[in-house]
Amino acid sequence: MGWRTSKSIWWKLDEGYNSNHMPILDSHTLEFFSKSPEQTRRIGMRLGSVLKKGDVLCLQGELGAGKTTFVQGLAQGWGSLDSVSSPTFILVNMYRRADGAQLFHLDTYRLESQPEAEELDLDSMLAEGVLIVEWPERLGDLIPEERLWVKLDHISDEQRLMLFNANGARYDALLDGIRQSMFGGG
Ligand SMILES: Nc1ncnc2c1ncn2[C@@H]1O[C@H](COP(=O)(O)OP(=O)(O)OP(=O)(O)O)[C@@H](O)[C@H]1O
Ligand SMILES: [Mg+2]
Repeated sequence: MGWRTSKSIWWKLDEGYNSNHMPILDSHTLEFFSKSPEQTRRIGMRLGSVLKKGDVLCLQGELGAGKTTFVQGLAQGWGSLDSVSSPTFILVNMYRRADGAQLFHLDTYRLESQPEAEELDLDSMLAEGVLIVEWPERLGDLIPEERLWVKLDHISDEQRLMLFNANGARYDALLDGIRQSMFGGG
């Protein structure tokens, strides 16, 4: 799904990656080098603060990549009254905000089958709130075409490469916001 640029990123890493620079690969893609869990959480907070009902955020990354850490920031920035727990044994967590808004946090890691995936009924969640999906690759075509895709890669103990890829005007706008807040200091 749309990670045609990743080769050039790894090439950059081979070349000796400068952790302070943040190249814009194309107008729909952004990479960020996180140096700590706090930094990952903070970027999540900034993005979370602008998420709205109907937004879809996909979080791809291996075990321990920092998905839950990022979601903790997202939920906090969005204004969740509930704290984030890793939904490893249940598929969906729902978080609420004081104004009644809802955020759905899906973890499809334990999803057994496509029928089970279809039962999740993403459409009705999207009609009600924000949707964050961990292990989105497991949902295949069920993921809406327009979405913000975030890929987390483990580099070392405290370092993660975060790749943001936008599909659709709404997500380009979200990406621009992230870009601006990052250039504004971080
Ligand atoms: N830059 C970083 N960003 C995010 N997490 C980091 C970073 N550096 C270290 N960590 C640590 O890596 C771990 C990431 O765990 P986390 O639960 O967020 O990952 P996950 O992708 O949700 O894993 P799992 O798939 O097992 O649920 C945490 O202990 C976190 O403190
Ligand atoms: Mg997790």
